[in-house]
Amino acid sequence: MEQMKAAGFPEGFLWGSASAAYQIEGGWQEGGKGVTNWDTFVRIPGKTFKATTGDVAVDHYHRYKEDIALMAEMGLKTYRFSISWARIYPEGKGKVNEEGVAFYQNIIDECLKYRIEPMVTIYHWDLPQALVDAYQGWESPQIIDDFVNYAKTLFTRFGDKVKYWITLNEQNIFTSLGWLTAQHPPGKFDDQKMFYQVNHHAFMAHAKTVLAYREMGGKGEIGASFAYTPSYALDCKPINAMAKANYDDLKNYWWMDVYAYGRYPIAALTYLRKKGFAPDMAEGDEEILRKAAKEITFMGVNYYQSCVCEYNPIDGVTPYGTMNTSGVKGSAQEVGIQGIYKNPANPYLLTTDWDWSIDPSGLWFCCREITSRYGLPIIISENGLGAFDKKTEKNEIHDEYRICYLKEHIKALGEAIEEGCQVLAYCTWSFTDLLSWLNGYQKRYGFVYVDREEEEGGTLNRYKKDSFYWYQNVIRTNGVEL
Ligand code: BG6
Repeated sequence: MEQMKAAGFPEGFLWGSASAAYQIEGGWQEGGKGVTNWDTFVRIPGKTFKATTGDVAVDHYHRYKEDIALMAEMGLKTYRFSISWARIYPEGKGKVNEEGVAFYQNIIDECLKYRIEPMVTIYHWDLPQALVDAYQGWESPQIIDDFVNYAKTLFTRFGDKVKYWITLNEQNIFTSLGWLTAQHPPGKFDDQKMFYQVNHHAFMAHAKTVLAYREMGGKGEIGASFAYTPSYALDCKPINAMAKANYDDLKNYWWMDVYAYGRYPIAALTYLRKKGFAPDMAEGDEEILRKAAKEITFMGVNYYQSCVCEYNPIDGVTPYGTMNTSGVKGSAQEVGIQGIYKNPANPYLLTTDWDWSIDPSGLWFCCREITSRYGLPIIISENGLGAFDKKTEKNEIHDEYRICYLKEHIKALGEAIEEGCQVLAYCTWSFTDLLSWLNGYQKRYGFVYVDREEEEGGTLNRYKKDSFYWYQNVIRTNGVEL
């Protein structure tokens, strides 16, 4: 394989990989865990690809030692994983489930045994069902205190060992899919007003958690992880340049500005007020958001693809075009907001089988934008390629396309670092294969192949892919050999 020299990664750079509880753990009714919104949602016919669930997932609940040993063999410097709220508080609040605490304590200790820095996501989408039953979960401001209570329990129990905290994973995605496209729980369609309200509650939960962490004496790194899809204007036609500006305000800065500045972007807020969709804020909220913004120490970025922006006529496409969840190339439809912007395909980029554009430069743009706009250090908390992998009879997986994808993205990241962006960590998605929320088990992301299909019943054995050995060498050489 051709060896390429990357730009310099700093000493102590955290080469990592990421996962999320629902997508790997399984053991959905074990260890005193409560039922979550996802446990409920996947049982509604038609909601997931071939009705896949995370009931067993890739059985990390029982195999975490094997998985972490593989991470150690690879030389991983950090492992980002999420904690399932319902394992800590089966009812969302009230009595702590000690078995759940012990499970995550074991994971953290296992990581530390191998000098792998644990990076904890407090919320990666699985919400205790009890809180949905009690007050509709994120729709009520009551969730703010319950979230902070849960997070404080994590700080108390794990704060001496965990130095990296991610409050929320992709708030923009779980709320869009939950309240606009009905693809995630609670499966609401086109509820714009509630979408912005839910987001405001999530911002407040994030902000109060950040403040609580500091009040409790937490000195580690804390921030949120955002699904950042940077944009390019279709061309220099002013109306398309404005479509890009509108897209950025509504789809990116709406979240990142709140995390980093504690305020909503003004043009987007004005537009949403006119439409009647702007969130209601309680007295004092803005001050809390501003205070918390001063306490975050990084912007977490999950980067998969970039997009193109073009003016969208008033009778143009809607946000509700079909998403490709089958891996049949070309089945995704164009989306946009009528009268504002739309996202046509980029003719200069290749796409994955799920129609996601492949654009290493996009990662570079993300870093540049965050550095210039917010002056914050960056954690790339996810980046990776979902693909159909095939295991040979000799149990080998030749995923050179994944190596190529990651290599180009790491090169782009190196360029951003050379230009002065402060990047603390790079986590690939994902370490082992795992459940893709809407795309089943056939969309694989891992360095480690897991023997299972949509149906339960595979051996769940782990097999190292070619990309495993490749990333091992990237880490060993601190990104010099790609
Ligand atoms: C991110 C999520 O949106 O992207 C992950 O944080 C998710 O949980 C990943 O799995 C890849 O998305 P998908 O839809 O291909 O599984």
